[in-house]
Amino acid sequence: MATILVVFHTQSGNTHKLAQACAQGAKETEGITVLLKQAKETLTEDIKNSSAIILCSPEYFGYMAGAIKDLFDRTYDALKDDVRVYKKPYAVVISAGNDGTGALSHIERICKGYRFKKVQNPIVCKGKVTEEMLEKCYELGRTIAEGVKAGIF
Ligand SMILES: Cc1cc2nc3c(=O)[nH]c(=O)nc-3n(C[C@H](O)[C@H](O)[C@H](O)COP(=O)(O)O)c2cc1C
Repeated sequence: MATILVVFHTQSGNTHKLAQACAQGAKETEGITVLLKQAKETLTEDIKNSSAIILCSPEYFGYMAGAIKDLFDRTYDALKDDVRVYKKPYAVVISAGNDGTGALSHIERICKGYRFKKVQNPIVCKGKVTEEMLEKCYELGRTIAEGVKAGIF
């Protein structure tokens, strides 16, 4: 069964809400399992065994959350030469106060290092998490799950 990994870090809950919406959307697709996990609890195997990844990070100090960076630090060496992660579909969701570009660009740069394949445009949620943003995340999750199921990525 195909698994979509939705990985997040949060302090005040905003990124968690966005990640939950992504997971809800992905769950709509029959035959897809969703693994919603905090970055600090996410393992190399979770990345390796997933069919696609949605990376959800707040922007802190113009960068991704430390826990997301820590996930990359902990897993890169084991995965960098693993053909199972090449072209693994991924998308990014950022929660930011008013910017988000720093976190996004650094995450995308690192994902290039893993040779993941960006399959959807990022979502950058600025300020309060609105229903509109939750809907966008839900649709992102659904689109990724449908794409995985159809084998189009
Ligand atoms: C330590 C800290 C640093 C932050 N730095 C930025 C920043 O550089 N740019 C920005 O747009 N928002 C910044 N913010 C705002 C957060 O990105 C925003 O509140 C986000 O929704 C927090 O997500 P969370 O509730 O999942 O922790 C910062 C917040 C904190 C606590």
